Amino acid sequence: MKTILLGPPGAGKGTQAQFICQAYDIPQISTGDMLRAAVSAGSELGHRVKAVMDSGALVSDDIIIELVKERLAADDCVNGYLFDGFPRTISQAQALEAAGVALDAVVEIRVPDEEIAKRMSGRRVHPGSGRVYHLVYNPPQIEGRDDETGERLIQRGDDQEDTVRERLGVYHDQTHPLVEFYLAKSGHGDLRYIEIDGLGDVEGIKRQILNSLG
Ligand code: AP5
Repeated sequence: MKTILLGPPGAGKGTQAQFICQAYDIPQISTGDMLRAAVSAGSELGHRVKAVMDSGALVSDDIIIELVKERLAADDCVNGYLFDGFPRTISQAQALEAAGVALDAVVEIRVPDEEIAKRMSGRRVHPGSGRVYHLVYNPPQIEGRDDETGERLIQRGDDQEDTVRERLGVYHDQTHPLVEFYLAKSGHGDLRYIEIDGLGDVEGIKRQILNSLG
């Protein structure tokens, strides 16, 4: 199972990725989580990408493609994987093709821009695992604490209102063209393009996605 989760910031990609990865026993490859881990670790990569991420812009294709290629070489990728937040540009998608990755499905989660701001302002994350919560829509069992480890949850630096607006603009300009890109390919070969209405409760959306993937 090699799948891409596509959708705007706050569509619920990270939330749903956890369910898909559990159901299929595959790793989640979130370029956002990988970059945030590099920033937290204070690595050279982290220093190079921090300002770009804080601004809401995209990290350069070269850096991302290198990062993903390295990740795909790991042992846990042999039975498949789920991309969350990658590819983000046509160049990244073409690099994936050039690397010989044959995708099984692209799952697009659609959420209108108006809903995004509400989701982002209430989002809290567990930095260690990438687990995602929402103060109202998907609260943790104990306020401010991760359900599994009990560790403190944080608010992401790029969830400020202005940065979210910037990220949405970047999504429409640079990432949304991937919808046409993959729709055009879904008629040929084994690739399935699955559209999911991302409005509704987390459980319902999970069921829709898992039923569609089969
Ligand atoms: P990244 O971490 O990938 O962020 P993103 O794509 O903008 O997506 P988010 O993580 O913000 O949202 P999500 O769709 O996962 O939603 P979530 O499940 O959390 O990227 C961050 C940055 O890294 C980029 O801006 C860029 O700089 C860089 N980067 C990363 N990848 C890159 C790449 N490939 N190329 C270049 N640069 C890259 O849900 C959001 C909130 O809503 C949560 O609080 C959740 O609990 C809640 N929620 C979820 N589902 C529902 C529901 N159905 N109803 C109500 N609330 C819900």
